[in-house]
Amino acid sequence: MIKKAILPVAGLGTRFLPASKSIPKEMVTVVDRPAIEYVVREAVAAGIEQIILVTHSSKASIENYFDRNFELETTLENKKKFDLLKEITEILPPHVSVVSVRQPQPLGLGHAVLCAKAVVGDEDFAVLLPDVLVKDDQAENDLAKMIARFEATGASQIMVEAVPDNMVDQYGIVDVAESPAVAESIIMQGIVEKPAVGTAPSNLSVVGRYILPAKIMQLLEQTPKGAGNEIQLTDAIAMLHQTDSIEAYRMKGQTFDCGSKLGYLKAVLHYGVAHPKLGEDFKALIKELKL
Ligand code: G1P
Repeated sequence: MIKKAILPVAGLGTRFLPASKSIPKEMVTVVDRPAIEYVVREAVAAGIEQIILVTHSSKASIENYFDRNFELETTLENKKKFDLLKEITEILPPHVSVVSVRQPQPLGLGHAVLCAKAVVGDEDFAVLLPDVLVKDDQAENDLAKMIARFEATGASQIMVEAVPDNMVDQYGIVDVAESPAVAESIIMQGIVEKPAVGTAPSNLSVVGRYILPAKIMQLLEQTPKGAGNEIQLTDAIAMLHQTDSIEAYRMKGQTFDCGSKLGYLKAVLHYGVAHPKLGEDFKALIKELKL
């Protein structure tokens, strides 16, 4: 059973400056809550029970957000602001815990995942990269489908989506015999990190959601520096592929790259209009703009 998810949050978010100068990019607000909460909710909706943050000294506000805040709770209680009290105490369901480990040096995504080795132990696990928000229908959680497929077949699952050919150099790209239908997993024949435009094996990009076996940690320990002079998770997955079956899962939901400013604005629009309390008024505001 996949119950643990690693969320690497140690990156300094230079693509999101100046917003990320003194707050973590993961704490930037999408509508009425920090971006990281959407990613944690996605994991919890897929059955994850332990969130492992791989973090940095400047990111304590992420841990604080998922912790209790008795001073604030007491104040809200005294003021009889019970709706708000409920909201802040129910960010995480009681069966979900958050732990954090530090990534002492910025050596890459593969290294960040490896930093969680002792917490993961001998369990298979999920990885969710928090820059990308995945918006699913409630009933069709892509991550849950990947977990179910992993549990049924034992094949690692890599979530992918098609990107324009001129953008392949920004992502991990998988090689597959044919493009899978949406919400389907098919055998992956290879994977490469940020190939130059014109050299990519397909246009199916790695979204940043993975279901991986515990043993990939041993491979990460042996992974040399790759693209960008960093230890790449993609390279460890390529090593795993020499011995194990890996599948590319073509996602059904919609992605928003909140690591980029335009992706972030798009997320605010989409989550804003879908917000249960603010959505209708927000739609009216957008109409007023008469663009
Ligand atoms: C990372 C991964 C890459 C993946 C991307 C998704 O790259 O290394 O394979 O496609 O996330 O956002 P980064 O964005 O950290 O450069």
